Formats: sequence, structure tokens, C-alpha cells
Amino acid sequence: MTELRFPDNFLWGAATAAYQIEGAARDDGRGKSIWDTFSHTPGRVYAGHTGDVACDHYHRYADDIAMMAELGLQAYRFSTSWPRIQPDGTGPVNPRGLDFYDRLTDAVLGRGIDPIITLYHWDLPQNLEDRGGWTNRDTAEHFAIYAAAVYARLGDRIGTWTTLNEPWCSAYLGYGNGVHAPGVQDPGAAFSAVHHLLLAHGLATQALRAGGAGRVGITLNPADVRPADPNSTADAAAARLVDGLHNRIFLDPLLIGGYPDDVREHVARIVEPTFVQDDDEKIIAAPIDLLGINYYAPTYVAGRPDGAGGGGAYPGTEGAVQFLAPVGPLTDMGWMIEPAGLTRLLERIATDYPAVPLLITENGAAFPDKAATDVTSPVQDTDRIAYLDGHLRAAHAAIARGVDLRGYLVWSLLDNFEWAEGYRKRFGIVHVDYLTQRRTPKSSARWYQEVISRNGL
Ligand code: FCB
Repeated sequence: MTELRFPDNFLWGAATAAYQIEGAARDDGRGKSIWDTFSHTPGRVYAGHTGDVACDHYHRYADDIAMMAELGLQAYRFSTSWPRIQPDGTGPVNPRGLDFYDRLTDAVLGRGIDPIITLYHWDLPQNLEDRGGWTNRDTAEHFAIYAAAVYARLGDRIGTWTTLNEPWCSAYLGYGNGVHAPGVQDPGAAFSAVHHLLLAHGLATQALRAGGAGRVGITLNPADVRPADPNSTADAAAARLVDGLHNRIFLDPLLIGGYPDDVREHVARIVEPTFVQDDDEKIIAAPIDLLGINYYAPTYVAGRPDGAGGGGAYPGTEGAVQFLAPVGPLTDMGWMIEPAGLTRLLERIATDYPAVPLLITENGAAFPDKAATDVTSPVQDTDRIAYLDGHLRAAHAAIARGVDLRGYLVWSLLDNFEWAEGYRKRFGIVHVDYLTQRRTPKSSARWYQEVISRNGL
């Protein structure tokens, strides 16, 4: 294959999230989040796994950061845990919670790595959920206050601030099909959560700017939605609807200003949108400096009167839209492997929303990672290397066609708590032995190290 070089200054790194790796669920005054409650509720997470211990990163962060440096990572995207910093989500800040992120930030910077912070990666304080969570407008206001508190402590050292990770998941999986915490199944609630999450982003952006933040953004998981049959008008209509509910419902208010009319009409058929108040759309549309893109797999849909798999995560698509079963090759999550989807997605966003620079804030794959015969030798994860190689080529193709893509962060540094799937799905480029907490870089980590050092493939 031809050798590919990435632009100078292209940023290479890895991403994680607080609840997935930190553990220390009861240390130093941390409050409870919706994921503590959810994972401790029988039947919600595979085999009753919880994030109580996870990768124990809370205590092992220094060694983990040393390992990142050894692998040559230039950037590290991590999230702060709201209930660690503000146990009830409102009221007093817990200084010991902030102390941890202070130490973490200094350790990252001390190794010459650029910290990229995510203020919310799904761990809402349980106390706020008890008052309605993201269906309560007040949660958006509380989030901005929390954002300001984190900025006040770390703003002097962290240059890149992102508000939310994948609000699509928080809203539709959390309140639509209930597969994620808090496990609610209510179509109207899902849409009110979408709006309050966007409002939270807007209000937090204001708070960060007021504090002096330079680079502010948000991470979405936009979908590459494809009609099953490109010549079918029914399939095209289904794709348009799903694109509206997954992509344009977030991208338009953030980057154009206001919800698209077709989405507005669809939502109004399900719930009276009293949650959208007068100036909200102005607040949400405040300029951002960076859009984070998480991409894993494409979405193929067909418009069928007896469509299966609609509803839930896409309220209002019940019966009308069929979500096609993925066809191989698949990852261990059962997700399709289609790197071309990443090129298409990046180009589409760059075309329809041209003003904002893009950063791939997550991309990667779970594979069974057959253990090597002895625990000290690395996992030979050639399937993961092939996945990453394919997607980096796809990202490169988008850059070659003019997309302003600034960097790539692999998901994930470590095997970790994969939400409803618990620890059984491994996304890390570094293997974690959960009995001993021993970390061993997989072949993919060594391969990635080489990619970074060459700035290419
Ligand atoms: C994304 C999440 C991340 C991880 C990957 C596999 O949706 O942001 O935490 O679970 O999927």
C-alpha cells in the first residue's frame, strides 16, 4: 500500500472517560452518578459489572500517563466526573475531587502531552436525576455552574474544553430505549433531554468563555446514514428521517442556529415542545472552535411499512423504518466495519457545516483479543490494527479532499468498562488484566506508536 503522511501538526492521541476507567467510586467524597445506580441495578449491565474499581486509574494515573508518553501520544482526552467534583450536582464543590484532576492535568502536561477535557461523559449526579435529570431544564443551568468550577481550577493549564460527549446517547439511550442510565423509556423525555443537553452545552460555553477559555467545542457521534437501496424513494425518506433525528437535531442548532423544520414537525407529533424557550436556540448556537467526531460504524436503513427495529433510540420511527442488520465483517460489538463511512461522514459535515474544524475524538474497535499463552506477552490484535489502519486511511482521504481535520484520538487507551456491556468488550490498545490491574500494550499500541512517530502509515 502507498505510504500516507498526515499534515504537519496533526494531533495524535487517545481517549478515555471517567466512569469507564477511574474506579475509586467512593473515594475522597465522590457522590453517586446515574451509572453507579444503573450498574448496581440487577439486569442492567452484563453480568452485574460496575465501575466501582474499573481500571483503578484514580490511583494508577501516574503510571498510565507514563505509558502514554512511552507510546508517543501527543494528546490525551479524558473526562471529569461531575459527582466527584460536585457530589450532588449542585451546591458545594468537593475540593478533593478537583484535586485529582489537578494532579492528573499536571502529570499529563509534565509528560509533554496536550490535555483535552470533556466535562460530561454520561455520569450525571444521581441527585439531579432524582429531580428529573436531563428532562429538567435546571440540569442545564447546574451544568454551566459545574463547568465554571472546573474551568476556575484547570483553565490556566488546559487549552481545549469540550462540553458533552455524544448527547445522542445520553438522550436517546438514556431516556428513549433505556439501554443506558438512567434507563428511562419515554419518547417525549428523550426529546426534552436532547434540548436540555444542547442548552447545557450553550450555557457551559458561555461560562467557559466568560472565564477566558480559548478553545471550546463539543463531541457528537454523527451517523453516516445510508439508504439500503439508493434508488428507492422510501429508503431515501427513511434515511432523511434518521439523519434528522441523529444528526441534524444536534448539528443544525449548534452550527446553523435553530432546529430544522422537518425535525421540529416530527418531534411535535410526539411531544409538545414546551421545553424550547425563547432564547434557547441563540444560546445553543454560540460559536464553537472545534467539533469532535466519534465514528465507529455506518447505519443502513430502509423505509418499510412493517419496518423492524425502529422506535426506542429513534422515537417516532416505529414500524416505518427498518434498521438493517449489520453485515460482516463485524467487530465484537456486532458493528459493521466500513471505513468509507468515515470519509463520507467527514466530507458531509465539512460540506454542510463548513466553518468548524474537526477532530476525531473517538474511533476504534472491540475484538475478542485472544489472550496470549502467557500474560506478559502482548495480545496480537491484528484485527484491531486492520480496523485502525483502514479508518486512518479513510480519515486521510477526507483530508485529501479538503476536510479540515486536525487530529485523531483512538478509543481507547485501555480496555475498560464498556457501559451496558461491562468488561466483556475490549476496546483498548493496552490490555488490562482486571485481576491484577496489570497493563500490557497490545500489538496495536506498538503499531500506533509507529504511526505517530512517522506521522503516517
Ligand atoms: C462511544 C462512547 C465511549 C465508548 C465507545 C465504544 O459511544 O463515547 O464511551 O463506549 O462508544
